[in-house]
Amino acid sequence: MSERSDGVAGAKIRAEGVAKTFWSHDRDVVALQPVDLTVADGEFVCILGPSGCGKSTLLRIVAGLIGASAGRVTMDGRPIRGPGPERGLVFQEYALFPWLTVLKNVMYGPTVRGLGRVEAEARARAQIARVGLEGFEQQYPRQLSGGMKQRVGIARVWANQPDVMLMDEPFGALDAITRNILQRDLLKLWLEERHTVLFVTHSVDEAIFLADRVVVMSARPGRITAIVPVAVPRPRDLLAPEAIALKAELTRLVEDQVMGPRGEPSRLREYVN
Ligand SMILES: Nc1ncnc2c1ncn2[C@@H]1O[C@H](COP(=O)(O)OP(=O)(O)OP(=O)(O)O)[C@@H](O)[C@H]1O
Ligand SMILES: [Mg+2]
Repeated sequence: MSERSDGVAGAKIRAEGVAKTFWSHDRDVVALQPVDLTVADGEFVCILGPSGCGKSTLLRIVAGLIGASAGRVTMDGRPIRGPGPERGLVFQEYALFPWLTVLKNVMYGPTVRGLGRVEAEARARAQIARVGLEGFEQQYPRQLSGGMKQRVGIARVWANQPDVMLMDEPFGALDAITRNILQRDLLKLWLEERHTVLFVTHSVDEAIFLADRVVVMSARPGRITAIVPVAVPRPRDLLAPEAIALKAELTRLVEDQVMGPRGEPSRLREYVN
């Protein structure tokens, strides 16, 4: 773990003993075993783990959308009790209003929070330009490609000027080329402003390309099995020897979760749904 995030000072998000059990079809589903995680201010942390291991659950708890069954999450030392504009959430599905233009979609948050129309529009236009969509302000989501919609989703979150970006497989539905472009753009914007980012992904490559640290989670019920710093200088070349070595290490850590340490697919059925 990095020195920055071990100390309480500089900690942006802190999860302590956070666990979640859902009640589903007359039985308990343990989604998350107690998780401890500290994310430093300005840090980019990726959460990597097999399907169903509780990544979205953890992110939704940090977002304040659902409560934890045990433990607590704090931001800047204060308990998280619900959603707030200081934590922006980007989902895999493009959470846009289909009946609003790109501009109105991005203006929505600041307007709801009481910003005047002129100021909200100026802020929205600036964010739209930042994500490279100048000229598309009057288009509707249905007129955009998946990558463009996801850019709008990011602009929309940024228009609220969040301190923390919570991103749940935001590029998972995109083709490889668009995904690479958006990863690069996201990093560029992050380097400019250094929001704290908690980013869920299935992709080892994506985690290595983006993260300061990679949090590896076990198969359901999820818990943290490893926290691996990515000590590869940016901009990262995934074909550099240290990136290849890290990819082998992270792939093994994730595959151990899927296949079991001896390569037995015994637990596979549990979480493939
Ligand atoms: N509202 C809910 N009610 C009941 N069970 C739930 C609920 N939400 C999640 N679960 C269960 O909790 C477990 C973890 O789900 P979660 O969505 O957090 O996984 P994930 O790691 O994000 O998976 P994926 O990579 O497929 O998105 C799963 O077994 C899921 O079925
Ligand atoms: Mg998920």
